[in-house]
Amino acid sequence: MSGRPRLQVALDSLDLPAALRPLPEVADYVDVIEVGTVLCLSEGMHAVRAVRALFPGKDVLADVRIAEAGSVIAKLAFDAGANLVSVIGCAAMATFEAVVAEARRAGGEVQVELGADWSLDRAAQLWEAGVTHAILHRSRDAEALGTLEWAPGDLESIKLLADIGFQVTVTGGISVADIDILAGYPVAIVIAGRSIVAAADPRRAAADLVAALDRGWPV
Ligand code: 5RP
Repeated sequence: MSGRPRLQVALDSLDLPAALRPLPEVADYVDVIEVGTVLCLSEGMHAVRAVRALFPGKDVLADVRIAEAGSVIAKLAFDAGANLVSVIGCAAMATFEAVVAEARRAGGEVQVELGADWSLDRAAQLWEAGVTHAILHRSRDAEALGTLEWAPGDLESIKLLADIGFQVTVTGGISVADIDILAGYPVAIVIAGRSIVAAADPRRAAADLVAALDRGWPV
Protein backbone atom coordinates (compact mmCIF):
# COMPACT_ATOMS: atom_id res chain seq x y z
CA MET A 1 0.00 0.00 0.00
CA SER A 2 1.30 3.46 -0.79
CA GLY A 3 -0.03 6.97 -0.49
CA ARG A 4 -2.35 8.37 2.07
CA PRO A 5 -5.40 6.48 3.31
CA ARG A 6 -8.71 7.19 1.64
CA LEU A 7 -11.38 8.92 3.71
CA GLN A 8 -14.71 7.18 4.20
CA VAL A 9 -17.69 8.96 5.71
CA ALA A 10 -20.02 6.74 7.74
CA LEU A 11 -23.73 7.50 7.67
CA ASP A 12 -25.39 6.02 10.73
CA SER A 13 -28.42 8.29 11.01
CA LEU A 14 -31.81 6.80 11.75
CA ASP A 15 -33.49 8.14 8.64
CA LEU A 16 -32.45 8.79 5.07
CA PRO A 17 -33.02 12.56 4.86
CA ALA A 18 -30.81 13.11 7.92
CA ALA A 19 -28.18 10.76 6.50
CA LEU A 20 -28.07 12.49 3.13
CA ARG A 21 -28.13 16.07 4.45
CA PRO A 22 -24.36 16.59 5.01
CA LEU A 23 -23.24 14.68 1.92
CA PRO A 24 -23.31 17.40 -0.76
CA GLU A 25 -20.99 19.60 1.27
CA VAL A 26 -18.51 16.87 2.22
CA ALA A 27 -18.52 14.74 -0.93
CA ASP A 28 -15.47 16.52 -2.41
CA TYR A 29 -13.41 15.40 0.55
CA VAL A 30 -14.46 11.77 0.83
CA ASP A 31 -13.52 8.79 -1.31
CA VAL A 32 -15.96 6.23 0.07
CA ILE A 33 -19.50 6.69 1.37
CA GLU A 34 -20.61 4.16 3.96
CA VAL A 35 -24.24 3.34 4.39
CA GLY A 36 -23.73 2.38 8.02
CA THR A 37 -25.22 -0.59 9.81
CA VAL A 38 -27.66 1.65 11.63
CA LEU A 39 -28.89 3.23 8.39
CA CYS A 40 -29.06 -0.14 6.59
CA LEU A 41 -31.29 -1.42 9.38
CA SER A 42 -33.47 1.67 9.61
CA GLU A 43 -33.90 2.34 5.89
CA GLY A 44 -32.80 -0.87 4.18
CA MET A 45 -31.17 -1.06 0.77
CA HIS A 46 -33.25 1.94 -0.28
CA ALA A 47 -30.51 4.01 1.41
CA VAL A 48 -27.79 2.32 -0.66
CA ARG A 49 -29.78 2.97 -3.86
CA ALA A 50 -30.19 6.64 -2.92
CA VAL A 51 -26.48 7.16 -2.20
CA ARG A 52 -25.48 5.36 -5.39
CA ALA A 53 -27.90 7.47 -7.45
CA LEU A 54 -26.69 10.74 -5.94
CA PHE A 55 -22.97 9.92 -6.02
CA PRO A 56 -22.35 7.63 -9.00
CA GLY A 57 -18.59 8.25 -8.95
CA LYS A 58 -18.00 7.24 -5.31
CA ASP A 59 -17.24 3.90 -3.78
CA VAL A 60 -20.18 2.85 -1.61
CA LEU A 61 -19.95 0.44 1.32
CA ALA A 62 -23.10 -1.23 2.54
CA ASP A 63 -22.08 -2.01 6.12
CA VAL A 64 -24.50 -4.90 6.34
CA ARG A 65 -22.22 -6.95 8.63
CA ILE A 66 -23.27 -10.25 7.16
CA ALA A 67 -23.41 -13.11 9.66
CA GLU A 68 -25.33 -15.68 7.59
CA ALA A 69 -27.16 -16.00 4.28
CA GLY A 70 -24.11 -14.46 2.70
CA SER A 71 -25.10 -14.85 -0.91
CA VAL A 72 -28.58 -13.36 -0.53
CA ILE A 73 -27.54 -10.37 1.56
CA ALA A 74 -24.47 -9.59 -0.51
CA LYS A 75 -26.57 -9.72 -3.69
CA LEU A 76 -29.11 -7.32 -2.14
CA ALA A 77 -26.34 -4.84 -1.36
CA PHE A 78 -24.51 -5.14 -4.70
CA ASP A 79 -27.75 -4.95 -6.66
CA ALA A 80 -28.60 -1.75 -4.77
CA GLY A 81 -25.34 -0.19 -5.95
CA ALA A 82 -22.79 -0.96 -3.25
CA ASN A 83 -19.36 -2.01 -4.38
CA LEU A 84 -18.19 -3.05 -0.92
CA VAL A 85 -19.96 -5.18 1.69
CA SER A 86 -18.96 -6.14 5.21
CA VAL A 87 -19.04 -9.52 6.93
CA ILE A 88 -18.50 -10.08 10.65
CA GLY A 89 -15.26 -11.86 11.49
CA CYS A 90 -16.92 -14.77 13.30
CA ALA A 91 -19.12 -15.73 10.31
CA ALA A 92 -18.62 -19.26 9.00
CA MET A 93 -16.08 -19.83 6.25
CA ALA A 94 -18.95 -20.93 3.97
CA THR A 95 -20.53 -17.51 4.48
CA PHE A 96 -17.34 -15.70 3.50
CA GLU A 97 -16.99 -17.92 0.45
CA ALA A 98 -20.57 -17.17 -0.61
CA VAL A 99 -20.07 -13.42 -0.20
CA VAL A 100 -16.77 -13.47 -2.09
CA ALA A 101 -18.44 -15.37 -4.95
CA GLU A 102 -21.21 -12.78 -5.08
CA ALA A 103 -18.67 -9.94 -4.94
CA ARG A 104 -16.76 -11.44 -7.85
CA ARG A 105 -19.97 -11.66 -9.89
CA ALA A 106 -20.75 -8.02 -9.11
CA GLY A 107 -17.21 -6.69 -9.47
CA GLY A 108 -17.26 -5.71 -5.79
CA GLU A 109 -15.10 -6.31 -2.74
CA VAL A 110 -15.52 -7.83 0.69
CA GLN A 111 -14.51 -6.39 4.04
CA VAL A 112 -14.20 -8.38 7.24
CA GLU A 113 -15.21 -6.59 10.42
CA LEU A 114 -12.67 -8.22 12.69
CA GLY A 115 -14.41 -7.49 16.00
CA ALA A 116 -12.89 -8.14 19.38
CA ASP A 117 -11.72 -11.75 19.01
CA TRP A 118 -9.69 -12.40 15.93
CA SER A 119 -6.39 -14.06 15.18
CA LEU A 120 -3.79 -13.62 12.50
CA ASP A 121 -4.33 -17.23 11.40
CA ARG A 122 -8.02 -16.54 10.87
CA ALA A 123 -7.25 -13.31 9.03
CA ALA A 124 -4.82 -15.13 6.73
CA GLN A 125 -7.50 -17.75 6.02
CA LEU A 126 -9.95 -15.01 5.07
CA TRP A 127 -7.39 -13.39 2.80
CA GLU A 128 -6.88 -16.74 1.06
CA ALA A 129 -10.67 -16.97 0.64
CA GLY A 130 -10.70 -13.68 -1.25
CA VAL A 131 -11.50 -11.11 1.43
CA THR A 132 -9.41 -8.05 0.59
CA HIS A 133 -10.29 -5.50 3.29
CA ALA A 134 -9.95 -5.84 7.07
CA ILE A 135 -11.66 -3.43 9.45
CA LEU A 136 -10.16 -2.69 12.86
CA HIS A 137 -12.98 -1.19 14.86
CA ARG A 138 -12.99 0.58 18.19
CA SER A 139 -16.36 -0.55 19.46
CA ARG A 140 -19.10 2.00 19.97
CA ASP A 141 -20.38 -0.09 22.87
CA ALA A 142 -16.95 -0.03 24.52
CA GLU A 143 -16.83 3.71 23.82
CA ALA A 144 -20.14 4.12 25.67
CA LEU A 145 -18.48 2.46 28.66
CA GLY A 146 -15.63 4.97 28.47
CA THR A 147 -13.03 3.06 26.43
CA LEU A 148 -11.82 4.69 23.23
CA GLU A 149 -8.08 4.25 23.02
CA TRP A 150 -5.58 2.83 20.57
CA ALA A 151 -3.67 0.09 22.34
CA PRO A 152 -0.10 -0.55 21.11
CA GLY A 153 -1.44 -3.91 19.87
CA ASP A 154 -3.89 -2.13 17.57
CA LEU A 155 -1.13 -0.25 15.78
CA GLU A 156 0.92 -3.43 15.43
CA SER A 157 -2.18 -5.20 14.07
CA ILE A 158 -2.42 -2.66 11.26
CA LYS A 159 1.07 -3.64 10.12
CA LEU A 160 0.48 -7.38 10.47
CA LEU A 161 -2.78 -7.24 8.49
CA ALA A 162 -1.21 -5.09 5.79
CA ASP A 163 1.67 -7.59 5.58
CA ILE A 164 -0.87 -10.32 4.79
CA GLY A 165 -2.07 -8.12 1.93
CA PHE A 166 -5.23 -6.59 3.35
CA GLN A 167 -6.35 -3.06 2.73
CA VAL A 168 -6.72 -2.08 6.37
CA THR A 169 -9.57 0.14 7.45
CA VAL A 170 -9.63 1.81 10.87
CA THR A 171 -12.75 3.13 12.50
CA GLY A 172 -14.51 4.01 15.72
CA GLY A 173 -14.81 7.60 16.91
CA ILE A 174 -11.96 8.77 14.64
CA SER A 175 -10.87 12.38 15.05
CA VAL A 176 -7.97 14.46 13.76
CA ALA A 177 -6.01 13.49 16.89
CA ASP A 178 -6.43 9.80 16.03
CA ILE A 179 -5.16 10.36 12.52
CA ASP A 180 -2.07 12.00 13.99
CA ILE A 181 -1.50 8.83 16.09
CA LEU A 182 -1.99 6.56 13.08
CA ALA A 183 0.28 8.64 10.84
CA GLY A 184 2.55 6.58 8.61
CA TYR A 185 0.93 3.22 9.42
CA PRO A 186 -0.17 1.18 6.39
CA VAL A 187 -3.82 2.19 6.60
CA ALA A 188 -5.87 2.06 3.39
CA ILE A 189 -9.10 3.66 4.60
CA VAL A 190 -9.97 5.86 7.58
CA ILE A 191 -13.65 5.99 8.45
CA ALA A 192 -15.13 9.01 10.16
CA GLY A 193 -18.79 9.17 11.04
CA ARG A 194 -19.82 11.46 13.86
CA SER A 195 -16.70 13.60 13.63
CA ILE A 196 -17.99 14.71 10.21
CA VAL A 197 -21.76 14.38 10.21
CA ALA A 198 -22.33 15.62 13.77
CA ALA A 199 -19.90 18.54 13.43
CA ALA A 200 -21.22 22.09 13.50
CA ASP A 201 -19.55 22.52 10.09
CA PRO A 202 -19.28 19.11 8.38
CA ARG A 203 -17.37 20.50 5.39
CA ARG A 204 -14.75 22.08 7.66
CA ALA A 205 -14.53 18.85 9.67
CA ALA A 206 -13.98 16.77 6.53
CA ALA A 207 -11.36 19.25 5.29
CA ASP A 208 -9.55 19.05 8.64
CA LEU A 209 -9.48 15.24 8.45
CA VAL A 210 -8.09 15.37 4.91
CA ALA A 211 -5.44 17.86 6.03
CA ALA A 212 -4.45 15.46 8.84
CA LEU A 213 -4.24 12.60 6.34
CA ASP A 214 -2.03 14.67 4.04
CA ARG A 215 0.17 15.58 7.01
CA GLY A 216 0.42 11.99 8.23
CA TRP A 217 1.18 10.41 4.88
CA PRO A 218 3.11 13.07 2.96
CA VAL A 219 3.71 12.34 -0.72
C1 5RP B 1 -20.78 1.86 14.30
C2 5RP B 1 -20.00 1.96 13.04
C3 5RP B 1 -19.68 3.30 12.50
O1 5RP B 1 -20.03 3.36 11.16
C4 5RP B 1 -18.21 3.61 12.69
O2 5RP B 1 -17.88 3.46 14.05
C5 5RP B 1 -17.86 5.01 12.22
O3 5RP B 1 -18.62 5.95 12.91
P1 5RP B 1 -18.00 6.90 14.05
O4 5RP B 1 -16.82 7.59 13.44
O5 5RP B 1 -19.12 7.83 14.38
O6 5RP B 1 -17.58 6.00 15.20
O7 5RP B 1 -19.64 0.99 12.42
O8 5RP B 1 -20.90 0.55 14.72
